[in-house]
Amino acid sequence: MTSPKLQQARDFEARYGPHIPDAERPAFHATPTIGWMNDPNGFSVYKGECHLFYQYHPFSNEWGPMHWGHLKTRDFLHWQRLPAALAPDEAYDAAGCFSGGAAELPDGRQLLMYTGVQRERTPEGFLQEIQTQCIAIGDGLDYEKVGQNPVLDAKDLPEGGSRIDFRDPKVWRGEDGAYYAVIGNRTRDGSGAILLYQSADGCRWRFVRTLDACQNQYGRMWECPDYFALGGKQVLLTSPQEMTPIGLEFHAGNGTLCLMGHTAPDGGFVRERVQAVDYGLDFYAPQTLLAPDGRRIMIGWMQNWSTVGAKPDHCRWFGQMSLPREISVQNGRLAQQPVRELESCRGPAVVHHHILVSGETNLPGIAGRVLDMTVQIRPMGQGSYRWFRVHLAKDGEHDTILRYKPDESVLKIDRTRSGLPHDIVNTRSFLVRPRGGELKLRIILDRFSVEVFVNDGEQAASAVIYTRQEAQAITFEAEGQLLMDVEKYDLVL
Ligand code: FRU
Repeated sequence: MTSPKLQQARDFEARYGPHIPDAERPAFHATPTIGWMNDPNGFSVYKGECHLFYQYHPFSNEWGPMHWGHLKTRDFLHWQRLPAALAPDEAYDAAGCFSGGAAELPDGRQLLMYTGVQRERTPEGFLQEIQTQCIAIGDGLDYEKVGQNPVLDAKDLPEGGSRIDFRDPKVWRGEDGAYYAVIGNRTRDGSGAILLYQSADGCRWRFVRTLDACQNQYGRMWECPDYFALGGKQVLLTSPQEMTPIGLEFHAGNGTLCLMGHTAPDGGFVRERVQAVDYGLDFYAPQTLLAPDGRRIMIGWMQNWSTVGAKPDHCRWFGQMSLPREISVQNGRLAQQPVRELESCRGPAVVHHHILVSGETNLPGIAGRVLDMTVQIRPMGQGSYRWFRVHLAKDGEHDTILRYKPDESVLKIDRTRSGLPHDIVNTRSFLVRPRGGELKLRIILDRFSVEVFVNDGEQAASAVIYTRQEAQAITFEAEGQLLMDVEKYDLVL
């Protein structure tokens, strides 16, 4: 039965969503049908198709009572819009259906596991949010919340676990046929932990163990975990709030964390290495799925909580997902590449080899805002250039800049002049690993974003831009001299 609240959301999106012209959206990045989008939810395969749900407030371009929006895709680039899947229509989720995951049940139905948020009054009279985990089961279109909800609450927490910060279950079916979920929690020391739960049927859950804990080292609360095997390692992803900067690896605010390790004999997680997932300005709360062909594919919310207040006036949608990325472990680090499906959307190649860059130059056929371009640079001997820049989405007023300084091995992304008159975080620098002085940047543009994949996916950096679409120019600039190869494809979807 569709509740009046869900029906209201569905009616609203059906009425107003189609008014948004395609040209006002990215060509291949997922956006909300209308209104606000944050975290990816339930990114999973169901009946051979990939479903993507998302944190959704259809009624405005601001965060509000959370619904789940719903999309599906066969190629990670074309997204079919489905009606909203969940609304905050029960006492236990009246303050929002927060993030969660999805899995296919053996009987062919689809299970959604999400955080139900309710408010209660403290003895002092303050309103406080309580978070529990809830289940809805459906057929890929309509979902019924189960009578046992909430299926996990305060009594299922380990000692000292917070019932206020207990959210974002990511669920999967294990090879043993059981269901598992990782859930973010706050511990007694005020910082985050990732809890592992198990269930035989997807509805009755039990606490297994704490997989890892923040201990106030990498941010505070750990949100939106994911946990999977990859390239002989165990990978735990989470998105910390209140991160304090660590070198150029982690910046203040909301970050992304990849904890790489292995499974201990008792089934626990042993952390070996820590790194950022994305080094740009806008990436948070990623989730992965295991595609039928064995690829582990990750998608993130291409936004940041620090900058969501800054948006174009009267925009009818806000928030978009990153390009889905194939992830792997390379030399003990998380590597990411755009999904290979993107390559089949490439138009004719525009190729320039051995271009001498000294000062600023543009190249025939190199311009545009929906494209896939690889730029490779190499010095002409030791110290031949001080810096190199790629200027994107450029016109007289606008300019989005990637700058590389070889003596520091630092790549900087700068969207100060990318269409927003707000003094938000507009630049970020990070260390890259040049190979013998060479650097390779694969740059994906899709109208309102730039995603950079460094050295065949060693690192990724994402940023939203708001530059008007007429700003199409791309130029290359160096102080000193270097040699460059460029290969560019317009993307046709
Ligand atoms: C992360 C997050 C989640 C929560 C959701 C609410 O971006 O804060 O922890 O479930 O957003 O919309």
